[in-house]
Amino acid sequence: MLRLRDDARVVMFAGKGGVGKTTLSAATALHFAGEGHRTLILTSDPAPSLGDIFERSVGDRVVEVAPELYALELSSEEVLRRWKQKFGGEVYEVLSSLVPVQEEIIDYIGSAPGIDEEFMLDYIAGIVKSGEYDRVVWDTAPAGHTLRLLRMPIIFIEHLDEAARVYLRLYSAMQKIRDTLGLRKPRREIFDIIAGWRELSEQLLSFLRSPQVEVVPVAAPQGLSVAQLRRLMQELENFGITAEKIVVNGIVKPDCEFHRRMAEVQKRYIEELRRSYPEVGLVEVPLLPQEVKGLKSIKKIESLLFDMR
Ligand SMILES: Nc1ncnc2c1ncn2[C@@H]1O[C@H](COP(=O)(O)OP(=O)(O)OP(=O)(O)O)[C@@H](O)[C@H]1O
Ligand SMILES: [Mg+2]
Repeated sequence: MLRLRDDARVVMFAGKGGVGKTTLSAATALHFAGEGHRTLILTSDPAPSLGDIFERSVGDRVVEVAPELYALELSSEEVLRRWKQKFGGEVYEVLSSLVPVQEEIIDYIGSAPGIDEEFMLDYIAGIVKSGEYDRVVWDTAPAGHTLRLLRMPIIFIEHLDEAARVYLRLYSAMQKIRDTLGLRKPRREIFDIIAGWRELSEQLLSFLRSPQVEVVPVAAPQGLSVAQLRRLMQELENFGITAEKIVVNGIVKPDCEFHRRMAEVQKRYIEELRRSYPEVGLVEVPLLPQEVKGLKSIKKIESLLFDMR
């Protein structure tokens, strides 16, 4: 049974593509909502599937998909739009004091890899702070996405420190020829802006590491998935996050020769995980003989995941 930490406000399932992150996210979100917590399930996956699993259209605007349960699929255009609204002005201010640039440069910077993740972190931290929702379930995209996401604030901080140094040199050089080049004069002290960004990244970093965020690794009981899970566990540890449980999803019943063989393979991997992570609780979720789509089947996963039978 999956027992999430009481103080966790944000839950994210992480793991290889197709292991069941969206399915488990939906079941967990439904569980929170059923307990009476106002819950938001959201994704920034460029190929979102919240609409598919809840069987109704979900998009850039929050929709209620069950009592107390709200869903949001943020498209990359919407992330860019919101990012521009929040940071665009500052970015332009910094850049245009250095080099003659048009405002379109903001779109270009905003489409840089990593901006989505950094923005989403900021967005989710904002939701938690505002108290608008009691719980947030973040349905992440597969593969390296989650890891990149966790690293993003650190990369930003390193980058900004370097940027501040470069900026200092450039700025004093540029100062002399500002008028000739027709550069804009910054309204504020640029270093305040950069320092502000740095502080924001640091806040996001400590938010990610705080007990408010619970990361739950997910694996299918088979080789490739377990290998990826090991890498994820290692990265989380390096990052200062302790995963307290792992969900092993898609366990078959040995009810025929085919499934008996499959179950044997699965058992081997489950035992291997148990040996490797003795202090982590393994939560086993069986493979349903049906696809998980619509509230009824999500509820079924919920009852298996949270042992509500
Ligand atoms: N326990 C289960 N029993 C039956 N079907 C399942 C189970 N878990 C997941 N599935 C099915 O497996 C497929 C993949 O699941 P899901 O979309 O949740 O994975 P994901 O990790 O979110 O994938 P992606 O990485 O592509 O986002 C879906 O069709 C889902 O219905
Ligand atoms: Mg998914």
